[in-house]
Order: sequence, then structure tokens, then C-alpha cells
Amino acid sequence: MLAAGPAFAQKKPVAERVDSVLALMTLEEKVGQMNQYNGFWNATGPAPAGGDAATKYTHLRNGWVGSVLNVQGVEEVRAMQKVAVEETRLGIPLIFACDVIHGYKTLSPIPLAEAASWDLEAIAQSARHAAEEATAYGLNWTFAPMVDIARDPRWGRIMEGAGEDPYLGSRIAEARVHGFQGDNLGDPTTMAACAKHFVGYGFSEAGRDYNTVDVSEYTLRNVIYPPFQAAKKAGVATFMNSFNTMNGIPATGNQALVEMLKVDWGFEGVLVSDWGSITEMQAHGYAENLKAAAELAALARCDIDMESLAYVQYLAALVREGRVSEDVVNDAVVRILTLKFHLGLMDDPYRYCQRPGSWEPTTSPWSADAQELAEKSAVLLKNNGILPLAKKQAIALVGPMAQEKNSPLGNWRVSSDDFTALSLYEGLVQVRGEKRMTVASGPVFLKGPISFPFEAEINTTDTSGLHAVIKAAREAEIAVLAVGEHGFHSGEARSRMSLHLPGLQEHMIREVLKVQEHVVLVLYAGRPMILPDDITEQVDAILLAWQPGTMGGPAMANLLMGKRSPSGRLPVTFPRSEGQIPLYYGAYNTGRPGPSDAVFWSHYGDGPNSPAYPFGYGLTYSTVTYTATQAKQMGDSIAVQALVKNEGKVAVDEVVQLYTRDHHSRVGVQPVRRLIGFQRLSLKPGEERMVNFSVTADELSVMTSEGERLFEPGTFSFWVAPHSAAGTPATFDWK
Ligand code: BGC
Repeated sequence: MLAAGPAFAQKKPVAERVDSVLALMTLEEKVGQMNQYNGFWNATGPAPAGGDAATKYTHLRNGWVGSVLNVQGVEEVRAMQKVAVEETRLGIPLIFACDVIHGYKTLSPIPLAEAASWDLEAIAQSARHAAEEATAYGLNWTFAPMVDIARDPRWGRIMEGAGEDPYLGSRIAEARVHGFQGDNLGDPTTMAACAKHFVGYGFSEAGRDYNTVDVSEYTLRNVIYPPFQAAKKAGVATFMNSFNTMNGIPATGNQALVEMLKVDWGFEGVLVSDWGSITEMQAHGYAENLKAAAELAALARCDIDMESLAYVQYLAALVREGRVSEDVVNDAVVRILTLKFHLGLMDDPYRYCQRPGSWEPTTSPWSADAQELAEKSAVLLKNNGILPLAKKQAIALVGPMAQEKNSPLGNWRVSSDDFTALSLYEGLVQVRGEKRMTVASGPVFLKGPISFPFEAEINTTDTSGLHAVIKAAREAEIAVLAVGEHGFHSGEARSRMSLHLPGLQEHMIREVLKVQEHVVLVLYAGRPMILPDDITEQVDAILLAWQPGTMGGPAMANLLMGKRSPSGRLPVTFPRSEGQIPLYYGAYNTGRPGPSDAVFWSHYGDGPNSPAYPFGYGLTYSTVTYTATQAKQMGDSIAVQALVKNEGKVAVDEVVQLYTRDHHSRVGVQPVRRLIGFQRLSLKPGEERMVNFSVTADELSVMTSEGERLFEPGTFSFWVAPHSAAGTPATFDWK
């Protein structure tokens, strides 16, 4: 057995050790390292006797499987690893992968919500905790972070990313990579991360998942690539191909793209296909059969085939036929084995099986931080002074999310246990006690049981239960309506045409507003949602909870009761209407920006251009004022500043944002605003702070379509502002 044997006990440099393993491998064993299967049998039980599982089991014992995903629990991991280590000729251990997206059992808020905290340390810590928990279950590779920029809230996977902005997205990509991987991949409490989906997946046409992507080089280089480059720079161990076509070629077979990644950017890690994305090149109309798909993927330097069974069946033959060079295979295997060495698996295949634990998600070592991040992620969209709630008020807590213990966990929770979130009701009981609180969920929200692989069917007709809600609301001093979409309404394959509250909820809110003038909405969502004007105008407050994870209940209760001021800021624009999509703050001005009295300007005839809530927006329980921005030259950079003051009586965290605009650019026109910095500060009541940023030419530079970074001197505006539609700019001529 090679893996733990004496040949590897001596610490030669990894490259040398990899070469010495490679030299021993047959072509089939090399291809085997490039083959990845979903956990295909209960590894602690008997060997599979027939069907696909038996074939895969034979492949495993032949040494034709290099990694697996979705194997759950230390005993299963250990049992499967034992087959790889003890029963294959070379005994090369497997890597165990899983989508650990925002926690393993203890769930933080969904990634889009975490992004709303703008708190890079807390986001990194959340990824670190996810790794600590997941590695205790034997795992060592997560398919996260998703770093796709997304500007279309119809796309359900917007929940998995950091929103619409390349700068914020890049900082969060770095934070998450550092969090998952730590400083040392060999530490068995860290895991390999994966920047996905390479590339353009967030730009699927019409927001429909898996759909065509067609974007310019200019947008790719200035908007879509930056978070991937940031992840690469942060040392991310792996990348994942995306499902979509990119400008006519499926990303998994796109040689030019991967040449850029592996040659121009110098990425030395592993590139894994997405699930079945090699076989899907047939349906795309790119490969005529699976063998051709294997060839195209291999030539596009996809190192691992996840569940297409293309490499394992055809790649060795393609090499023997001279259609794919063995160098291509060797290069992939070197990358994969190097990762196995870095993870420490080649020295100890069971090193992730040493500290099995079982924790209750709500009391685990990570739950307090998960709660804190849920508190920092919630965004106060409206408040006419009704929040925080008075302690002794009689509350009617109503709506489908009031007692929900499942939906707040979101959609991407492969390994967590259903119904393990603390509900808003439980949170309020914890924080304020259950006296003077009535609770009613209202009409049934979803028909039938709900689960990851099936569409969530919504009740639109059966109003029973509405009466109880109206009665509770009428008799209380205030109604807290917990509404939104279910966790399973967003995520993979969960595209939606309507972003309105699903089912009977708008009707329910309007009925409540007829009997109760004090209404607070707590909005649960995995994406930007649309609330009709009559509702936003009449309710007193709207707190966006997102899908806040395991500890969402107490987190929202703390905010509602004023134990902490909300501080989250939108990482994505909330449109007024689906017709405005894609709507994002960093748009170009157009040649006819208007407004104008005549009709010939870039606008809609039936509604405003402006969003319901702009990027960066979010209120606190205080009033924070900003002076006009000032900008002056300081050596090689520009010093930009504004005085920020907490005018109110409550301590707050304020996310101070720095935007710029380059007024004329011959490289290509520039967005009307571009985020280039931010600081999250705590301000005591009455405290004021001069917030300073130093801006370099490099930060103002842009990418040409040909991939050159250029800075053009000229006129720039700067805003130090609370969100993307506020602030008084300073204009500066950079000569
Ligand atoms: C998703 C990936 C995920 C993979 C493995 C695919 O359907 O697109 O993001 O990592 O499945 O679970």
C-alpha cells in the first residue's frame, strides 16, 4: 500500500512525491483519479450486488475513482476510504467532497444574506466554522464559494452568491476561501474550497437556470472574472466548470477559457466539472456522443469528471487513439495528487476521521456566531419608528413564516437536519417571553411535503386559517407578519417568473391592514422580492430576514426587540417590477439618461427606472448623517473622506461605502457608480468619525476587452455614502 507506507513517510517536496506516484500508475489508474462519483452505496453495509452501484463499486476497487461527493458521516467515510486504501493496487486515498455552502449541520444565513453583513471577518469566520464542523464528519473538500455575480433575481441561485457587485463579490470570495482553507490545507479542521461556476453561470438568460449565457469580453473581464481572480489569488484549491454555454461554447468544453485560467492566471489547482456537465455537452449540441464529450472536456483541461462517467469509459481509449495526449492526463493527475498531499491524505488517509462529534445545531460550538451573523445580515428596509418593539406590547405574530423551523435553513443544506432552525416564534419567546403574544400561521402555504428534488407547490385557493390571523391581528396592539418565500423557492433550478410573495400572502397582508394599523413585516427570502406599493406604503416597518439559518429566530427577535440595531445592507438591488430586470446600480449612463419631458430617453412608459431599494441600502435604529465628500491628491493617491455622525440615541454599526465614477473612458464607458471600498464601523450615540479612504490609480483602472489593465487619467467623482443612490460627490481631475 502506497498511501501511508514508508515511501511517503520521508518528507520530500510534494512535487517529487507526486511524480514518484505518477510513475507507478497505469493509464487507467490515472484516468481513475479524474473520475468522481456521488456516494453510491451504504459503505458500512454490504457491497452492492447489481446495477450502477455495483459497476461503480468495481471501479472503486480497480482504483478508477479519485474522489467522491455526498458521503455522509465518519463511519461511511472511513469505510469507503478503507476500500480505496486497502483494496486498490496503489492504495491512493479518496477525497471526500460535499456542498458545504453555509454550514454543515449548524447553518449560518444563506450566502447572499451573509453578504448583506458586509462584514468580511464574520463571513470568513462562518466559512471557517463550516469547515470545522464538516471536517469532523470526515469531509475535506467543499464546493463553495459560489462566486458568480448575479443581476437577475429570477435566478434562484442568486441566494448562493454575494450579489451583483464585482468589488464586494471579490472581497467576499477571498474571505470565504480563507475561511474554508485557513492558512494550511493540511490542518484537518480546514478543507479545500472551490470557486464556482466557471464561468458566467449567474448571467443565464432570462434568469432561467442552466440557460444560455452570452456576454461581452468587456463584461466578463470587468464584472464576472474579478471574484474568480480574487479567489485564485487567495489560494483557492479548486475551480468548478459551469453548466452553461459561454458565447456559444459549453464552459466545460471551452479551451480558451481554461487556457486563460490555467496559463494566464496561473491556476495550479484542480478544475472539476459540474455534475454531469460533460455529458450535457451532448444536449447543448456541442458533442455528438459521450466519447466526444470526454475528448472535448479533457482538451479543455477539465481535471475531474463529476458523475458523467465519460472519462472512466472513454479517456484511456482516447489517449491510446492519439486523440488526447497523455500529457493532458498526467497534468490533471499531478494536480489531483498534489491536492491529496496538501490535504494530508497521502500521509494519513483517515486524518479527517479522528474527531467525530455530534452536535445539536442550536447549541453547537458554532451556533452563537451563526446567530450573530444572522443579526448582522438582516436589512431594515423601512421603519417609521415602530421598531424596536416596546417590551410589553400585545403582539399578533402571524403568517406562514411565524413558526417555520425548516424554511429558514434555506435550500442548500445537503447534510443538515430538517426542521432544526429556531423559529421566529421560539426566538420571540426566548427574548421577550410568551406573554401577550398570539400566534397564527394563516392559510396553508405549501401543498404537500416539500423537499430538495421537487418543486414546491403553492396553495392559492384554500383560505382557511385566514380568519384566525385577522382575529389575532385585530385583538393585538401590533401585528408582526412573518412572510416570504420558502427556503425551497430559491437555490438550484428554482427560477421564478414572479418575485411577489407567493400564494395568498399579499391578500393576507391586505386583510390584516384592514383591522390593524400597526403592522411590521418580517420578510424571509432567498432573493430580492417585490412588495406592491400599497403594502410597502401602509406597513410601518419591513425587516428583511433572508433565510437566516439555524439561529434565525432569536436573531430576528433580538433585532425586533432592539437588543441590537439592524446593520445589514443590500448586496443586490431590489426592483419594483420584474419588467425592470436586470436592474443593478453599476449600469452605464446610456446616451439618453434623461429624465426629459419628451419621450425619447431611456426609460419605461409605465413606471420609474429606480429600484424599490438600491444596492447598499439598509436602515438602522438611529440616524447617521454624512457630510459632502471631499477628495484631494496625496502623493500617488487620492484621499477621499467624509464626516459620518450618529445623530441618534442608539449605538449602531454603519457600513460606509465608497463609490466612484470615471466620467470619460476610451477603454469603454464606465458605470454611473462603482463600489471601490467600504468600512463597517461601530458608532456610539452622538459619535462622529472622519472616514478616510485612499484611492490609487490601480483601483480606478479598468480591463480592456483584450485583457489589459489600463488607467486613464481624467475626471472622477467620489461618493462616501450610506448606499449606492445617496451621498454628495466630490469631483477630482486626475491629470
Ligand atoms: C451544482 C454545483 C454543485 C454540484 C454538486 C450541481 O448541481 O450546480 O454547484 O456543487 O451539483 O452537488
